[in-house]
Amino acid sequence: MRRKIVAGNWKMNIEHAEGKELINDILSGLSNVEESKQVIICPPFIHLQQAAELVHGTSHVSIGAQNCYTEASGAYTGEVSAAMIKSTGAGSVILGHSERREYFNESNEMLAQKVNIALENGLQVIFCCGEAKEIREAGTQNSFVEGQIKDSLFHLSAEQMANVVVAYEPIWAIGTGLTASSDQAQDMHAHIRSVLAAKYGQELANNTSILYGGSCKPTNAAELFACPDVDGGLIGGASLKAADFQGIIAAM
Ligand code: 13P
Repeated sequence: MRRKIVAGNWKMNIEHAEGKELINDILSGLSNVEESKQVIICPPFIHLQQAAELVHGTSHVSIGAQNCYTEASGAYTGEVSAAMIKSTGAGSVILGHSERREYFNESNEMLAQKVNIALENGLQVIFCCGEAKEIREAGTQNSFVEGQIKDSLFHLSAEQMANVVVAYEPIWAIGTGLTASSDQAQDMHAHIRSVLAAKYGQELANNTSILYGGSCKPTNAAELFACPDVDGGLIGGASLKAADFQGIIAAM
């Protein structure tokens, strides 16, 4: 069966020494993470190696990056490859976050290439999708999100798809305090699972973790995670405070 996952996306926050402190604080308050669960901490690139060393030996806690480049290596100044991420000890990478789509013009096609190279290098992909406020208001969010998933993931084999986690993050809920209601989250997550089932079969769809992201906090996490198709969360702001992140992990 699918795993429950809480992943923290630090975004562009936290300097090197503070990163060590934050991870140690998170770990110190963490009771054993069960086999069926996973905690993933996704700091900026500069933290990856240190973070991987700090969580080493803590079961079911691992490290992820927030992006990788489409190419394997070469003259791409400022970029970081999937192989480099893997070499730090990180196990996952977030791809397709709405902030990267918006500020760095990442298209569904470019994301398909990033997904490929991440999987080729043995990274688990946390693939983000989600609609803007105008799309939600027009009522076309289901087909929009379906398009993002089809264009960036549906070239994958079922074997590859088994290493992909989907994160539904409605843009209007990110950093706004406007969390999706549990009904809105459940409806979309069920839709995403049905889209995966139509392409890859019900078993693979049932085994795929689908996370919710967008103003998820210790106070609303339990209600969101209680939805049958919500398998955990991708947490931004609340992952920067050890107590809040621990509270969300406890809700899982
Ligand atoms: P917030 O939890 O700060 O709304 O951010 C969500 C997010 O974008 C995680 O990737």
